[in-house]
Amino acid sequence: MRRLRKNFTVRRLLKETSLAVSNLVYPIFVDECIDNKTQIEHMPSQYRHSPKSIVNEIDDVISLGIPAVVLFGIPKIKNDAGSSAYAKNGVVQKAVRLLRSNFNDSLVIITDVCLCEYTSHGHCGLLREGMVMNDKTLSVLAKIATSHAESGVDIVAPSSMMDGQVLRIRDALDKGGFSNTPILSYSTKFASSFYRPFREAVNSKPAFGDRKSYQMNYANMKETLREVELDISEGVDMVVVKPALTYLDVIRSISDRFSIPVAAYNVSGEYSMIKYASKNGLLDEKETVLEVLTAIKRAGADIIITYHAKDVAGWLNEGT
Ligand code: PBG
Repeated sequence: MRRLRKNFTVRRLLKETSLAVSNLVYPIFVDECIDNKTQIEHMPSQYRHSPKSIVNEIDDVISLGIPAVVLFGIPKIKNDAGSSAYAKNGVVQKAVRLLRSNFNDSLVIITDVCLCEYTSHGHCGLLREGMVMNDKTLSVLAKIATSHAESGVDIVAPSSMMDGQVLRIRDALDKGGFSNTPILSYSTKFASSFYRPFREAVNSKPAFGDRKSYQMNYANMKETLREVELDISEGVDMVVVKPALTYLDVIRSISDRFSIPVAAYNVSGEYSMIKYASKNGLLDEKETVLEVLTAIKRAGADIIITYHAKDVAGWLNEGT
């Protein structure tokens, strides 16, 4: 087989997996407590954007050819019920309206539908005596998704891992006149160590306990397939596997078994590991990122949600 790798042109001819800018989604943080964009401490080159600086950021994203962003909101007010998550003038609702009016259809806007950024306790659902109440949380998630749809979002992405969230959100969207709004569900979101820089960025670390009762056990494969089956039966349009790099086998199994688009979320910890290692000369950033993202695609991901998106788009546009 060495004959087939001998020179660049032959290698290029036989390349089986290619990354494309058109499959990338860039996560963006919008913070209503700030006036200027602010560097996120443990995520080099990533920012919390003010409701103003977000427009310039999206200009960049679009000029690089990146088709989609996923928005995470950081609200002024957090309370036990997370009520600012579905406020008409909530941080995400306002950002969606602004982006929709500035960029019309040249941008796919995806929103995170969850409570952890909005609750004072930092959990992804409503609590009673320290326990997350799955079914009570569903109606709140439905309200959040509907309020995003009313603001003009293209795709809602529930990430709270409540059982039945797809069914309830689908039902609410349909009743609200948004039957054309797709749901990208985090069917398989593992209770992972790789979320820490994100939790610092949005200040959503649980005040007590952890998320193990609702996020998945990383030791389980059959359970992940069952979660996807359930989400499909509830009407999901696309599924997310999260994190990505330590779950390539999960991505592969889902994409082999189900004919549904699979998105992989290359999360904050995966991003920062490469950033810090390459800053310190341990890794070559570009080579490493391209290898990692190509592996995620090779495993079967149709879409990659990644903080590297702008860098990768730049490299791919240069003809890497
Ligand atoms: C929860 C949510 C999390 C991430 C995205 N949505 C974190 C969590 O479960 O604590 C993490 C993403 C990342 O690490 O990049 N709404």
